Amino acid sequence: MSNLIKISPSILSADFSKLGSEVISLEKAGADYIHIDVMDGHFVPNLTIGPEVIKKLRPLTKKVFDVHLMISPVDNFIKDYASAGADIITFHPEATQNTMKTIQLIKEENKMVGVSLKPKSKINLVEDYLEMIDLVLIMSVEPGFGGQKFMPEVLEKTKTLKKIIKEKNLNVDIEIDGGINFDNCTLVKKAGANIIVSGSTIFKENNGDLKKNIEALRRN
Ligand code: DX5
Ligand code: ZN
Repeated sequence: MSNLIKISPSILSADFSKLGSEVISLEKAGADYIHIDVMDGHFVPNLTIGPEVIKKLRPLTKKVFDVHLMISPVDNFIKDYASAGADIITFHPEATQNTMKTIQLIKEENKMVGVSLKPKSKINLVEDYLEMIDLVLIMSVEPGFGGQKFMPEVLEKTKTLKKIIKEKNLNVDIEIDGGINFDNCTLVKKAGANIIVSGSTIFKENNGDLKKNIEALRRN
């Protein structure tokens, strides 16, 4: 795991009528990754975008597509998102019958593997798989919508996870997602997160000055 902080703007808060130019603007503004929230109206009470949209965005940037799948059952869709151009595929253990099998499906596609924990999901859902995955995505809001309030109770879980990863001497990133702003980003970094997802703060603060907002999240 690198100690450098990476910023992964969530395009959930972008203007969907011009998604392509929004992604290009994020690249220009210094985003490290592009966070793509995929929702199915079943695992979470909201619907977003499918693989066809990702396929259209793929030629526009070389940035890492950090695809957060909030769909269940997830296994049948791994191939579609991989061939659409995802670089990291993150899923929720509650969305599969067999976490190990889903990890293997992603690896067979030569993609980086992320496992996501909802605010109330316990670390033991991911602990046994840390040796096999690239990142843990800690949700700091209930998945489904942008613009929600950060849940500080996930800080403890982040710290514990960081400690386990360190003790095992593993190369696993900790990404945090939901309600991140210029204040709490200091806390989440201190707790051990090294990839910061942000939708509303990046797209809405400072009149939508993407560069300024990305830099502030990186620096604070
Ligand atoms: C929520 C999504 C998040 C969300 C982040 O289900 O996974 O990525 O869009 O948006 P903000 O930063 O507005 O909470
Ligand atoms: Zn997300």
